[in-house]
Amino acid sequence: MSTLSNKRIIVGISGGIAAYKSAEIVRRLQDAGAEVRVVMTSSAEEFIRPLTLQALSGHPVHADLLDPEAEAGMGHIELARWADLLLIAPATADFIASMVHGRANSLLNAIILATPAIVAVAPAMNQGMWSHPATTDNMAMLAKRQVRIFGPDSGVQACGDVGPGRMQQPEQIVEQVAGCFAGQQLSGKKLVITAGPTREAIDPVRYISNHSSGKMGYALAQAAAEAGAQVTLVSGPVNLEAPERCNLVRVISAADMLSATMDACTDADILIAAAAVADYRPVTVATQKIKKHAEAINLELEKNPDIVSAASTAYSDLFVVGFAAETQDIESYARDKLQRKNLDAIIANDVSRSDVGFNSDNNEAWWITATASKVFSIRSKTQLARDIVDAIADQLKA
Ligand code: PMT
Repeated sequence: MSTLSNKRIIVGISGGIAAYKSAEIVRRLQDAGAEVRVVMTSSAEEFIRPLTLQALSGHPVHADLLDPEAEAGMGHIELARWADLLLIAPATADFIASMVHGRANSLLNAIILATPAIVAVAPAMNQGMWSHPATTDNMAMLAKRQVRIFGPDSGVQACGDVGPGRMQQPEQIVEQVAGCFAGQQLSGKKLVITAGPTREAIDPVRYISNHSSGKMGYALAQAAAEAGAQVTLVSGPVNLEAPERCNLVRVISAADMLSATMDACTDADILIAAAAVADYRPVTVATQKIKKHAEAINLELEKNPDIVSAASTAYSDLFVVGFAAETQDIESYARDKLQRKNLDAIIANDVSRSDVGFNSDNNEAWWITATASKVFSIRSKTQLARDIVDAIADQLKA
């Protein structure tokens, strides 16, 4: 999987002859799995038609700073927040100068000022303009502001001159964009997470379930996506919003969760099983609501399939992390599950307490592998999820 998978990239196009190469950049970024939006300056439209870029990116091209319709939908602030990386290709001498001065006179300039994302430029200009001390100073200022600078190349230019200033080739630019994300811990990894409870139907209106809220699993999905992984979240019924940038697969029963998880693990690198799967299900499910005539009824239950064990047996290359929900002898029961379920690591938590475990915003956990263990003292599930992601990344490196 590419490090660009799931990444949100704005391709900003300023008005230079190299703008025709921007279409190829958009296509290559998309092929590598990135989600792309295009923002053009008005002079860029003299060199390449917005329609071409709209067709390639599959989204309207953004151009006007003062467009009430755009501001009502994805305006400049939303675009600035949306992006992981803003690539200006080509970046003309004039556009670079406007960046140095912090201008906000075009949509693209305003986004650059407002964005917390990585900003990169692929300069493209005549060799004389590139060598001018004003451009040299401008480039030094951009570098000082941590703007990534791709190129330029040297060679024969559109005007017939020979020298530095030609925009790099699209494949080189896309490679460097990918490089900007290479340092992320789980970059390039496919990760599957199970979360929440399952429901095992008794009749059309009743079911067996448990107190899992899904908070732990959803926090893990968010943390893994932030760490650059491509995440599939297989979730039982919960009242939580879908985490951003995750492929959410909703399921109800353990049988559904088993088949969705096995499917998702086919080409995955890591499985984290945070779901509280119902251990048993009714042998028969009544087709009509069971009437309350009897003083007592017997429910015959059968064991559900063990999802995490099935995945660790079927996919030998998968790095499998289980959870252990315990109420006593936490570490020793967890170690037993680590072995029995053929896991690479297990996260044990105490589900007898009301301040951690089920349905709480906080948790305390033990990270246990065959050779090591450490305690994560009580903290928010969001923070614990980030710590677990760090622990997994460290383990994969070891
Ligand atoms: O959802 P929250 O409210 O945030 O609460 C979080 C949590 C307490 C549910 C979570 O931290 C947790 O402990 N999840 C695992 C719950 C559980 O079912 O533990 P277990 O010890 O019974 O199971 C051990 C492992 O086997 C788990 O990884 C579980 O997902 C997996 N399992 C269990 C049974 C089964 N049929 N299939 C499984 O895959």
